[in-house]
Amino acid sequence: MKETRRISLLGSTGSIGTKVLDVVRRSKGRFSVNGLAAGENVELLAEQIRQFRPEIVSVMTAELADQVRSMVEFADTEVLYGKEGYKAVATVDDADLVVSAMVGAAGLIPTLAALDAGKDVALANKESLVTAGSLVTSLAREKGAALIPIDSEHSAIFQCLRGHRKEDVRRIVLTASGGPFKDRNRDELVKVTPEEAVRHPRWSMGAKISVDSATLMNKGLEVIEARWLFDISVDRIDVVVHPQSIVHSMVEFIDGSVLAQMGILDMRVPIAYALAWPGRLDLDLPSLNLIESGSLSFERPHFEKFPCLGLAYDAARKGGTATTALNAANEVAVEAFLQGRMGFTAIQEVVREVIEAFPVEDIRDLDDVLKADALARLRAEGIISEKLT
Ligand SMILES: NC(=O)c1ccc[n+]([C@@H]2O[C@H](COP(=O)([O-])OP(=O)(O)OC[C@H]3O[C@@H](n4cnc5c(N)ncnc54)[C@H](OP(=O)(O)O)[C@@H]3O)[C@@H](O)[C@H]2O)c1
Repeated sequence: MKETRRISLLGSTGSIGTKVLDVVRRSKGRFSVNGLAAGENVELLAEQIRQFRPEIVSVMTAELADQVRSMVEFADTEVLYGKEGYKAVATVDDADLVVSAMVGAAGLIPTLAALDAGKDVALANKESLVTAGSLVTSLAREKGAALIPIDSEHSAIFQCLRGHRKEDVRRIVLTASGGPFKDRNRDELVKVTPEEAVRHPRWSMGAKISVDSATLMNKGLEVIEARWLFDISVDRIDVVVHPQSIVHSMVEFIDGSVLAQMGILDMRVPIAYALAWPGRLDLDLPSLNLIESGSLSFERPHFEKFPCLGLAYDAARKGGTATTALNAANEVAVEAFLQGRMGFTAIQEVVREVIEAFPVEDIRDLDDVLKADALARLRAEGIISEKLT
């Protein structure tokens, strides 16, 4: 890959988005940035506009768009807002690759728009696959667009599968750090505060994914993400806890051979792989030092202490809108926990109550997904209000 690859970045002000821009900076001109989309952080977006000079940017509201216009002193960047603005960033004519790195189901519509325009998508926004995996993957196939994972586990699997036949795969093994509360007992888990939950011991990530990592819902969402990305039944996806987080995931083949991808703990590595795919980028990061890392250990995940993982498997087996409901209920519950409205272990209770009683339907189109998402959010809010009274 010699020519400049033009990227459009959704979620540019987030943990993944800022690392994507760091990879672009280190790439010695191999990438240009044609579009940027953020939520509300206009100060950081304005800095990014000054540095990367994109053609088009979008933020959440008209007021925020006015603020951005008043902060940047040149007129060659079009500033848009809202759903239409995000779609415009996702489909900007000149972009070769769209990086989907917003958090939550908000990432679904722009991701679909990018694929519909035939753009390759580097996907960090796992929620779009959890909420509407069948729509996202069938649209990518129909448009001949590549879906390249950014999540480190899925990047590992993607790399291990390269050059192998799908029919030769026996199972996928996703590794999990076990989260910051792996060794806490149930009584201690009840007392976990939002501040503790967002402080992951190994990674600095956005608040929502940090809480998902602590409940193990993140691993559950990743099981569903893998089910769609690699077109494999969830019963052939296993999870092992690997606290050192050096093996990023593995693929076992029918002859018993297992390929694992290893590396340092730095999200810029899978990001660079997704951006440069099918090539690789010289990132000038430190090498993996296995002698210093010491021994690698593997354990069974604790399904009883962290029920969200099992809830995700159950929803994936039900299929249809069950995973849409799982995702929506989880987003509402995590937000309520982060706002201090309910405790840490209430997250799993809210998700369980929503999905146990949810009227699961097949997904035929986006409308089915949006209706199921709205219903699950309403029910989750209802359950949270009842718990508070
Ligand atoms: N962080 C990681 O290491 C990591 C690893 C693997 C996968 N992922 C996945 O990558 C995605 C992003 O995670 P993150 O940790 O980067 O999250 P984050 O730090 O919270 O960033 C989220 C980004 O999305 C924007 N955003 C939030 N709500 C939005 C909305 N309603 N509409 C439009 N934009 C919105 C935010 O904008 P503002 O900040 O400007 O409001 C920000 O740019 C998630 O799906 C996560 O599961 C993350």
